[in-house]
Amino acid sequence: MTQLTLDFANCFADRVSGHGLDAADFDAAKPQLVELTQRLNDSRGTGSERWRELPFDPMRSEHINAIKALVEQLRPNTKNLIVLGIGGSALGNIALQSALNPATYNLQPREQRNGPRVFVLDNVDPQSVGTTLTEVRRSDPGLERTVINVISKSGETAETAAQFLIARALLKDALGDEYAKHVVAVTDPSSGTMRRICDAEGYATLPVPEGVGGRFSVLSPVGLFSAAMCGIDIAALLDGAAAMDSRCASTDIAENPAATLAWVLIELYRKGKINHVLMPYSNGLYLLADWYRQLWAESLGKRVDVDGREVFVGPTPIKALGATDQHSQVQLYREGPNDKVIGFMEVASFADDVTIPDDLPAEAVEQLSYLAGSTLGTLLNAEMRATQYALTDSHRPNFTIHFPSITAQHVGEFLQLWMVATAYAGLMLNIDAYNQPAVETGKLATFGLMGRDGYEHWKAKVLGEDGG
Ligand code: PA5
Repeated sequence: MTQLTLDFANCFADRVSGHGLDAADFDAAKPQLVELTQRLNDSRGTGSERWRELPFDPMRSEHINAIKALVEQLRPNTKNLIVLGIGGSALGNIALQSALNPATYNLQPREQRNGPRVFVLDNVDPQSVGTTLTEVRRSDPGLERTVINVISKSGETAETAAQFLIARALLKDALGDEYAKHVVAVTDPSSGTMRRICDAEGYATLPVPEGVGGRFSVLSPVGLFSAAMCGIDIAALLDGAAAMDSRCASTDIAENPAATLAWVLIELYRKGKINHVLMPYSNGLYLLADWYRQLWAESLGKRVDVDGREVFVGPTPIKALGATDQHSQVQLYREGPNDKVIGFMEVASFADDVTIPDDLPAEAVEQLSYLAGSTLGTLLNAEMRATQYALTDSHRPNFTIHFPSITAQHVGEFLQLWMVATAYAGLMLNIDAYNQPAVETGKLATFGLMGRDGYEHWKAKVLGEDGG
């Protein structure tokens, strides 16, 4: 069976001189990496690391069965699926749709699609939300064939709560009491504001499993329900994640992709490569880089370490798209400050490759004949190889994640790889990869500015009216 492979050769000093790592240092780090692997193997499935068991039974079967039952019931009559959520409750959903369904999915006729049209609102941009809801309302059939998938562990996230109140009112207006049958909520199974609403209003629910944080939840019902509604093979996703997880549990470090990835990136960070670019050569995989940005930034960007010392650590994750950003960012990556490591994502075989015709305009045969009869996939991958070469030639460290093809299995591998690598990186940096204290202040201040009871002092602080 094919699997994701990683190539770090261009991160080492023999390729990028003093900007790279020393192979001897990797060998010297192996005992420490074995120890970290053992620590992670011991703590998996407990505390904040319960996400690691999502691809395995019993959670796997529980989730697949519950999702399957709802999908069988809802999918035949659903034309529109609107996903409400933000951050960890949206990025995984968007990435899965974009990677595993065609870019034209929503435009295809129903008989060609594997499920309803899907709209993930994510932000509270009024124009984007407004036009999406108008489109759904005006479609024929419209709200009577629409399902709202609201995803919020707490139910108190301002953006999701606002989206939910708007969508709920629309549905209620159109469908009366029946509206509740059009809502599937993914939330805390036992407590929280959303749970109380679900219990009172009778929505179908799926769990955000206990101890699974937003950015580690894509392989739970948070990401899997909307994926399954739209025909994505969620069992294959979990198979891929499970297979990658086994590789990442290995104490044979050279065979452990997550340990190696985390070591390379954190060591390069310590050598001043503080910007970590992920650059898929595939539009479908581009939004996986968005998902990665949240995971890497929110998990590793921390003021204090686990001993309470101020450390202000964290690489800055950046996304770029090949070949598009060769005409934009690569100038900077190659000649600007040598403070980056670039991660390429390569697809060996595209499902729908496009052949370039060999019918050339007579005026340009000499200039364009190299393209004739080739394919866009071949051109895209040649551009990736060329950029790898150019960056390496300029001593810019870079690595490659190689997808044999874009399938649910390989996307599952990719997701688990980065989540386990994040767990390693957290240990290496001696920080808590699972909290996000810095995003709380913004949330509380928003409550204050929006007039929530009990948060008046936040409003006063923001407006500088607290005398402080
Ligand atoms: O990663 C995270 O924890 C966040 O991005 C959350 O997922 C996001 O803030 C949404 O939270 P909630 O699910 O409680 O609405």
